[in-house]
Amino acid sequence: MTDKFDPANPSTMSTGAPVPSDRNSLTVGPDGPVLLHDVHFLEQMAHFNREKVPERQPHAKGAGAFGVLKVTHDVSAYTRAALFQSGAETPMLARFSTVAGEMGSPDTWRDVRGFSLKFYTSEGNYDLVGNNTPIFFVRDPMKFPHFIRSQKRLPDSGLRDNHMQWDFWTNNPETAHQVTYLMGPRGLPRTWRNMNGYGSHTYMWVNAAGERFWVKYHFHTRQGMEFFSNEEAKAMAGSDADFHRRDLFDAIARGDFPSWDLSVQIMPYAEAATYRFNPFDLTKTWSHDDYPLVPVGTMTLNRNPANFFAEIEQAAFSPGNTVPGIGLSPDKMLLGRAFAYNDAQRNRIGVNFNQLPVNQPRVPVNSYQFDGHMAYRHSGAAPTYAPNSGGRSWADETGPVADGWEADGALVRSAYTLHPEDDDFGQPGTLVREVFSAAERAGLVETVAGSLIGAVREPVLSRVFDYWKKIDAETGRRIEETVRAGAAREPVAGMSEA
Ligand code: HEM
Repeated sequence: MTDKFDPANPSTMSTGAPVPSDRNSLTVGPDGPVLLHDVHFLEQMAHFNREKVPERQPHAKGAGAFGVLKVTHDVSAYTRAALFQSGAETPMLARFSTVAGEMGSPDTWRDVRGFSLKFYTSEGNYDLVGNNTPIFFVRDPMKFPHFIRSQKRLPDSGLRDNHMQWDFWTNNPETAHQVTYLMGPRGLPRTWRNMNGYGSHTYMWVNAAGERFWVKYHFHTRQGMEFFSNEEAKAMAGSDADFHRRDLFDAIARGDFPSWDLSVQIMPYAEAATYRFNPFDLTKTWSHDDYPLVPVGTMTLNRNPANFFAEIEQAAFSPGNTVPGIGLSPDKMLLGRAFAYNDAQRNRIGVNFNQLPVNQPRVPVNSYQFDGHMAYRHSGAAPTYAPNSGGRSWADETGPVADGWEADGALVRSAYTLHPEDDDFGQPGTLVREVFSAAERAGLVETVAGSLIGAVREPVLSRVFDYWKKIDAETGRRIEETVRAGAAREPVAGMSEA
């Protein structure tokens, strides 16, 4: 590489031929018209017009880094997955993000944070695409696009709108647990390094003997949990919109590698049927008394991307990417996600996205996916169909699958109401009363009231008071009192002005 014009070493076209000039187009005389056969100029202009790909819908704003997962404990009784065997060291990629903001939005707006992991295992890529909260807003994937649209922008003004957000949340009371998390301190992590990550869903683990377990993943930050206040987050949004991105990159660049301890909650397969609430309901956490954390290992991020677009923007994570010994579960959200991601990526970065270096597995690929735009990997003259007599192997499993479960039978459309504790407000109430400190409860009241005053109208406003009274009567009363007092207040960071 040279920083000056070097006739012996010019830049090249994408064909490799030398470029005549990167500064002067070809014209008829110094002020004359630009010529159509200045192919290099035309190529520059045309490629520039195509150098953006659609941003992710949702989770557009984020960044990430590479690292390693080291397994320090023996969990082979629960899973045969190679990456979770004691002593295994698996290279990996992490991407952190906000959910609702677009590509240029401030990192410190109040929002849930994405916590996406891709493990390049010896059995193929395993992705765990979670968040910094152990729960989610809804429990049926049919609601997901509606939820995201309610957090994004109004159709006429293109503005974000608290009224729309609260309208969706209060019309869907199963959001109460996640909304309580979001409005509490964990809605404003100080940095990505200072937040926990969760798989959120219930997944299946299968051991070498074929025994099945239900599992929830927890990644606890070794940097300690730290949060911004509303004021700090708001100031940071104005002064450095890329604060979280910068913090992670700078920390890794100076050798201060962030790490997280991985542990899991394990539920024996048969206990799911009789647990006191639906263990596949994504709006619920499992009691740690019932299912204590089992340590697994430590994940450390130690290498920044060499190129943001190639390695972060083109990274494609999907909860559907599993490996032997790990399965999905009857969580409807998870099953909906198993379709959504690969489809989004076919649209966003093209049908052969798994051939891009950042997504390529580190094991041989023998895929019957064939051709398509930008096909790079190919199988030469090998048969393109299975079964075949040409010596190319194929898969042929029949019978019950190793990571399957028994389904109910009749086709229905249903909300969960089968278990005694399937209600929407019990767990968020516990969070407010038993987990949040008095100061955090006061902050919660301030944050919620601040997002309502001057922004949310009737009938949604009364529904919000009712929603919070169902979560916790006292908190609901204080929110209503604060809003009714109605003093003009500063909007809350990342919500009202967003
Ligand atoms: C039915 C429910 C859901 C649907 C349909 C859905 C769909 C999507 C789509 C289409 C993307 C963009 C993917 C891309 O362009 O590469 C995305 C990104 C993401 N989603 Fe979901 N999502 C759902 C629920 C969830 C849940 C429950 C979580 C967390 C527990 C989650 C975490 C994420 C994360 C972290 C990303 C960013 C991935 C990355 O870093 O590239 N999503 N989601």
